[in-house]
Amino acid sequence: MSSRAVEVLFRYLELHPEISAQASSVFIPRARFHSGLEQFPRPGLCLMQSFRPNAAHLERHGYSLAANAPASADLVLFLPTKQKLESLYWMARSAAVLRPGGHLVVAAEVQLGAKSYRKELFSLLGEGDSWSKDHCVVSSAVKNESSFNQSYVTELLTQGGIRPIEGTSYKTQVGLYGWDKIDQGSRLLITHLPAADLHGNGADFGCGYGYLAVEALKKAPAISAMSMIDAESLALEACRLNIEAISPKARCSYLWSDISASSFEQQYDFILMNPPHHNDRLQDFELGRRFIAQAHAALKPGGVLNLVVNDFLPYEEVLQKHFAAFQLLANESGFKVLRAVA
Ligand SMILES: C[S@@+](CC[C@H](N)C(=O)[O-])C[C@H]1O[C@@H](n2cnc3c(N)ncnc32)[C@H](O)[C@@H]1O
Repeated sequence: MSSRAVEVLFRYLELHPEISAQASSVFIPRARFHSGLEQFPRPGLCLMQSFRPNAAHLERHGYSLAANAPASADLVLFLPTKQKLESLYWMARSAAVLRPGGHLVVAAEVQLGAKSYRKELFSLLGEGDSWSKDHCVVSSAVKNESSFNQSYVTELLTQGGIRPIEGTSYKTQVGLYGWDKIDQGSRLLITHLPAADLHGNGADFGCGYGYLAVEALKKAPAISAMSMIDAESLALEACRLNIEAISPKARCSYLWSDISASSFEQQYDFILMNPPHHNDRLQDFELGRRFIAQAHAALKPGGVLNLVVNDFLPYEEVLQKHFAAFQLLANESGFKVLRAVA
């Protein structure tokens, strides 16, 4: 979700003060901080945000976050992400909680598919209003019984829930990283992962739905405990299901945490990772470098980091800087598998 779309959304609300004035309960799924939030009285404001850095930003400004959507709301504001199915799921949930007569307002950049989101909004609630500014489109519609499309809401809610990845035993949720497949790079890491590294206390940094941890636990009964860490709470929910399906008694913990901003003690014997290299939609090599530095801080002396990265990513320098030694285990299909000893 772009900050430009947030700006345009709040500008639209300024131009249509009647929309906010009529709303004593406001729901914002995947909320981002904006000073315009101040116009809504706190008791009636329900903000959800499952990505830890964005949640922390809201908390720093004094907002508390809800774990669940409210039973009903007078107004819902929604900013779609690049994941269309996930965004449609949240639009359907928003339409479902909206009380009759309430507004659902959706803002997105044109290049993110704003016009198709407008079409979807009107399919859910019926025709409404639309306004374009700064390469963004704001669409708004009112819920009323005659045009509310319950069967489409039900269809989108079914598509967006927890579901199996076809041809595997994994469960996932629309919108998570690589949600509909097993990542090729992660698969390569597991193929080349030395079983001898997998013992004691381990961690999966940026665990997603848990592929690396699950495969490590299958490979190595000597693992005594594992921490699954991800900034996306929905990923952790899917990860827990996948771990419990193979190893219900494994000593696993699930940490909703921004790895780049956490402080770690030297506690792990091994760490696995396929680090993120995007922040929102932008390439961010610094995030991967930070993950590697943080892995070093979290490993016991002699502990081992096994990671996979796209082979154009220049992480050797940061491995060299922090680790006693590192080696290339494989370079195939556009990925590098690396092993570093703290
Ligand atoms: C490339 S995916 C790897 C997922 C999974 N380990 C796999 O191999 O399929 C990177 C993961 O890092 C998570 N992530 C992104 N930024 C993060 C941050 N700052 N702190 C913790 N996790 C983060 C994402 O939610 C995503 O699940």
